[in-house]
Amino acid sequence: MIKITEKNSIKNGQSKQFEINKKKIVIFNINETYYALDSLCVHQDRSLVHGKVTNNIIECPSHSWHYDIKTGKLLDYLKDIKLSTYDVKNTKNGIYIDV
Ligand code: FES
Repeated sequence: MIKITEKNSIKNGQSKQFEINKKKIVIFNINETYYALDSLCVHQDRSLVHGKVTNNIIECPSHSWHYDIKTGKLLDYLKDIKLSTYDVKNTKNGIYIDV
């Protein structure tokens, strides 16, 4: 796992995008559970960082395609499309991601 930011630097309800190994990855803090997945929507490569999350579903802010925040699975239009997801840990030393 690699450290990507300081502990508590992503507040509850917030999200942040990072570039790790040339990949854009977004981390969401939903009620102190952290989720990380590829940040670029498969529709037109826009970032999901400002996507609204409701019941563990992210809505792309550009044209409202939806993804399961836990699995990265696209929920509309195309079958068997999935963004990569990554394990995240918030420790006393910082937030770590398994990439
Ligand atoms: S870029 Fe995400 S829905 Fe169009």
